[in-house]
Amino acid sequence: MFEADVQNVTQQAATGAVPAGNRVREVISEAHQRYAEHTDGQVADYIPILAHADPNWYGISLVDVSGKSFSVGDSQIEFSIQSISKAFIFALVCQELGHEVMHQRIGVNNTGLPFNSVMAMELNDGSPMNSMVNAGALATSALIPGRTTAEQWENIRIGLSRFAGRSLELDGEVYQSEMKTNFRNKAIARLLESYARIDIDPLEVVDIYTRQCSLRVTSTDLAVMGATLADGGVNPLTGEQVVGSEVARDTLALLASCGLYERSGEWLFEIGLPAKSGVSGGMVAIAPGKGALGLYSPPLDSAGNSVRSQRACAYLSRALGLNLFASSAYQSAKG
Ligand code: DON
Repeated sequence: MFEADVQNVTQQAATGAVPAGNRVREVISEAHQRYAEHTDGQVADYIPILAHADPNWYGISLVDVSGKSFSVGDSQIEFSIQSISKAFIFALVCQELGHEVMHQRIGVNNTGLPFNSVMAMELNDGSPMNSMVNAGALATSALIPGRTTAEQWENIRIGLSRFAGRSLELDGEVYQSEMKTNFRNKAIARLLESYARIDIDPLEVVDIYTRQCSLRVTSTDLAVMGATLADGGVNPLTGEQVVGSEVARDTLALLASCGLYERSGEWLFEIGLPAKSGVSGGMVAIAPGKGALGLYSPPLDSAGNSVRSQRACAYLSRALGLNLFASSAYQSAKG
């Protein structure tokens, strides 16, 4: 899908920094224009309120590690962060509990199955598998520090806000809409309880998880949050060390293998960047040491990933030299 789409784009080798400002502006505008008329994909409706999104909304932002920000299209529209929150909750919990606990207690391997799979857990002795699928994300949110779930929720909101460099707020309508229809997440949380994988009330876990998914962000916020992971855990806008550099590294490794669910292998093969998607149509793709892309376009493919955002990332990873695996020969570089 992507290769054919970007055949005429020269693959730039991954270099130390994103290209100069003018070039970035030009390339991002080109990425926006190329796919603005594409109509593939369906807007999610299993959370009823998400179906109200306009399929034409389309924003792209890039924030680099020096804090420079570039945006085109609907970069100021706020939407619910959904599963993209899982990446940053993993980072916050990993910061508290450490690499080894996340590895042993949650897991770091891809399920090869959809994000809301029950079977993945059943096939793996009740393991939540990884923090990017719903089972693992619920188990990870349960580990957020706090004496009560109200305190845990406040720590989630503050933690994600530190990544964004501004105070993120709950979209109450999205939260209510999902709480009325999230029977499957409630079942997954009960299953986690039955396997003794969570220590707090399963319905309380679903509540804080649904709140975290309902935080409102823009594509620019996603780019800042991603750029914090690209910058050794330091938010390039506020200068705050949000998580340690080793936690940022661990988060990106997990995103590379699990960020796009059962499509993660194809994604890495085509785009070559750690990334995370969400069902409202958001996406973040991170170039370690360089910066991050934040994208928004509601129509999704069958795995729940934004179609235009994926296409734009395929174009941008080539044109901006972001693909982690793209090198050019040492001899030819010497000339
Ligand atoms: O739990 C859910 O189903 C949603 N709150 C989030 C799912 C999601 O974003 C999947 N991503 N593509």
